[in-house]
Amino acid sequence: MAITLAACAPTSSNAIVPAASTSPPARPGSTASPTATPSESPTPTATPTPEETIPSVEETPQPEQTPPPEPAPTEPVNTFNKAAMSIDDPASLWVVSNKLRPLNPVDWTPPDIINVPVASQNPPRMRQVAGDALVAMFQTSVAEGAGEMQVQSAWRAYDVQVRVYNGWVARLGQAQADAQSARPGFSEHQTGLSVDISPVPLTCALDACFGATAQGQWLAANAWRFGYLLRYPADKTPVTGYTYEPWHFRYIGTDLAAEMHNTGVTTLEGFFGLPAAPDYAG
Ligand code: DAL
Ligand code: ZN
Repeated sequence: MAITLAACAPTSSNAIVPAASTSPPARPGSTASPTATPSESPTPTATPTPEETIPSVEETPQPEQTPPPEPAPTEPVNTFNKAAMSIDDPASLWVVSNKLRPLNPVDWTPPDIINVPVASQNPPRMRQVAGDALVAMFQTSVAEGAGEMQVQSAWRAYDVQVRVYNGWVARLGQAQADAQSARPGFSEHQTGLSVDISPVPLTCALDACFGATAQGQWLAANAWRFGYLLRYPADKTPVTGYTYEPWHFRYIGTDLAAEMHNTGVTTLEGFFGLPAAPDYAG
């Protein structure tokens, strides 16, 4: 009859049982210590020390234990609350205005518009929180070697947007105007949270070449630190409805800006799961 030797092979658990575990521990004094002196010799009444009588941990047979399961790797839990602020209320820092989402009311005016103390082509006015962040951003650009910046345009009231938009229509025709200028009631500039930025000295004003300037590059990489978002990226025209505007930055607060930066989402539409807004509804 064939004998299956493999069945007799030690299992890995058998293999790790130390040999000492199968033999009783040595009696105290059964092996003379090479350094023992007569006075150290055990007497019949000597009390063994615990070290001599208790097998060491290595020698003690351990009950076979199942190691605790390795914790399964888990994805970091994203606790960002996308509903923390309104995207509909024009007073909200997260309001999303695009060609499908007019401001409500269309002639809404922010209550806390201030003069922003920065260099500018036109004296800039913005909501307080956005203006404060803009001052810090301009100062940091200089401190970090990207150079000075100035404001081209900031808050625009409804009637100002009427003039701006009509001016572009007269110059370029409606189709081209709609590609780069919002109709009144649809512009983020009306919220007091958006700003158009140029370098000092002035070059590439409101032109795509601003994106290649030191200031444009620095802003694209760092605006999020100050709560600003490059609102109309070059590759997102089908989503935002506007051509690349490397000069237009929208204040959304540092929490949302950091979250979008960290998750790599570049449009408000994409972040909040809103429909793309390439065109007006009617
Ligand atoms: N240029 C942007 C789209 C505006 O007019 O609000
Ligand atoms: Zn703008």
